[in-house]
Amino acid sequence: MLSRIDHVGIACRSLEAAIERYEDVFGLTVVSRETNTGQGVREAMLVVSGAPAASYVQLLEPLSPDSPVGRFLERRGEGMHHIGYAVESVTEALATIGERGVRLIDSRPRHGSMGASIAFLHPGDLGGVLTELVQPVPNALNAVFAQRLPGLYKFGGAFRLPFRQ
Ligand code: CO
Repeated sequence: MLSRIDHVGIACRSLEAAIERYEDVFGLTVVSRETNTGQGVREAMLVVSGAPAASYVQLLEPLSPDSPVGRFLERRGEGMHHIGYAVESVTEALATIGERGVRLIDSRPRHGSMGASIAFLHPGDLGGVLTELVQPVPNALNAVFAQRLPGLYKFGGAFRLPFRQ
């Protein structure tokens, strides 16, 4: 069901300081920056390995103290927040995992980073690990393009995003 580790999500107080750390220490490159008001975060994706088995570090800065990542920072400080596994279909994986008795934070896929379709699983049923399922768009460059030029991308006719808008 899980094909690889897509990303590790890391909570930080300052996105800029965290990006600088990963650039300076590991030489990583930012490939995407987004503000996701639904999840209450400002974030950056830094690529660790490229396509086809792409993997990333996802740095997360809360938009407010009462957002999920804001509360995480207050309780536990900066550090690892969640792990994201790639799956072929989030919808199918949710159905299977739900049947196995794990509580689903998202019962249906929602919009994640770089155009991906994502869903979170409850850490209480997974040994304290907040776990995310990720169904990436087939081509990461398309995803970056989609994020920067959403209108063009959407109506260009070449490719449609697989998640619900
Ligand atoms: Co994530």
